[in-house]
Amino acid sequence: MFNEYKSRRAASKSNVLVLERPIEVPKSKATPEPVDVDLQAHLELKSRLHSELLDRLNLSVIDKVERSELKRQIAALVTGLIEAERLHLRSEAFTALVDELIHEVMGLGPLEPLLEDPTINDILVNSYDQVYVERFGLLEQSSVRFRDERHLLRIIDKIVSRVGRRIDESQPWVDARLEDGSRVNAIIRPCSVDGPALSIRKFSRNPLTIDKLVQRDSLNDQAAKLLAALVEARLNILISGGTGSGKTTMLNAVSSYIDGKQRIVTIEDAAELQLQQSHVVRLETRPPNSEGQGVITQRDLVRNALRMRPDRIIVGEVRGSECFDMLQAMNTGHDGSMTTVHANSARDALSRVEQMVTMLGADLPVRTIRSQIASAIQIVLQLSRLSDGTRRVVSISEITGMEDDTITMQDIFVFKRRGKSENGDVLGEFLPTGIRPKCFDQLVAAGVDVDTNMFIHGATAS
Ligand SMILES: Nc1ncnc2c1ncn2[C@@H]1O[C@H](COP(=O)(O)OP(=O)(O)OP(=O)(O)O)[C@@H](O)[C@H]1O
Ligand SMILES: [Mg+2]
Repeated sequence: MFNEYKSRRAASKSNVLVLERPIEVPKSKATPEPVDVDLQAHLELKSRLHSELLDRLNLSVIDKVERSELKRQIAALVTGLIEAERLHLRSEAFTALVDELIHEVMGLGPLEPLLEDPTINDILVNSYDQVYVERFGLLEQSSVRFRDERHLLRIIDKIVSRVGRRIDESQPWVDARLEDGSRVNAIIRPCSVDGPALSIRKFSRNPLTIDKLVQRDSLNDQAAKLLAALVEARLNILISGGTGSGKTTMLNAVSSYIDGKQRIVTIEDAAELQLQQSHVVRLETRPPNSEGQGVITQRDLVRNALRMRPDRIIVGEVRGSECFDMLQAMNTGHDGSMTTVHANSARDALSRVEQMVTMLGADLPVRTIRSQIASAIQIVLQLSRLSDGTRRVVSISEITGMEDDTITMQDIFVFKRRGKSENGDVLGEFLPTGIRPKCFDQLVAAGVDVDTNMFIHGATAS
């Protein structure tokens, strides 16, 4: 026993991947017939082999070993271990098992193939045996599952401990990020009634550009041209939409119209934006540490950003009191700032902003708040995820001012639905409302080239 301990210590100091521990193979020489194992048996076998592997692998060098070499050595080990079990798996089942075990040892287990699949945007683990994914805008149940709650919890632990956080009964939820930038939220018992749940928004290495959004019919050419003009003329833009409707993607795409010479400061809870310009400073909030201290909020960062001489401030999503400071920034020389808000219509977006300012408890009269909103925000871009899974701009509206206590706004472009096709696709067109926007003069004054025809109903239908 002591000798074994000594040899394991020696090995763990060296670069040896597989520790010397004999695998006991039963005496009989006869090769058993290949067998098919059902899902449950497969999961159990995998779990057994996984703990055997953990026992035999020198985890301290695992990162230093080339993946192909690791695969070779793990495959050899697994072969030995399976032989010891007197099992003969069919070759596809064996290869799948080795791959899954490599994922268990090196990565995030059953999540790995989903993370590698470029057609998947979101991974939603409702419980250990129910995993949904979003592909092409639609949710579908995946065949991936974890062995049991403990298995899922172990993977969650792996994710959160990699970013120096922890999750337990006293702090049963956590926001984290994977190494590739994917956004993760995990929640466990007692808050999650049926066991651990996990939501992952995958980071897209090639975020959608405006051109690609136009190709996907999320908006049309005219609307894209209008957005370019609005950004160039430095109007303040609020992008609104429901959860997962494409707000961050749109903000990222629209920001590409910002002149590269301008200084941009971005503020986010989890850095998702991938601005192409070089003159960009990215700020990110910090959650409280395990003693509940050291939190840095978006509001802190917006205030700090004002001292950084930014030309434009971009807040990933306004959720709370930072909204007040953002409005002030928009009103005080940081024209062309942008943010997103979670709301289901352009009108709703303004109410959400108002609510967030009210939550500050500054006891400002409603009219004051509304007139501040009306003078800060000029454009509201509304996004929606439609029933066929497509994400579209459903309206581009401008705020025109105040009438008594009400903020007035008018639509410039709207998506007019015309029912559904046989296969469930939403039919419709993105059309100008025919109104020449009030901000047109501002666009002209800023020297931006806009064609008045684009606002004429019928002239531009695509
Ligand atoms: N127009 C689009 N067409 C197809 N896919 C899109 C489109 N816009 C966004 N997506 C994809 O949809 C997913 C959600 O997009 P995004 O993160 O921009 O949404 P969001 O509204 O910011 O979500 P959340 O409310 O969670 O912050 C992403 O994976 C993104 O790549
Ligand atoms: Mg977002």
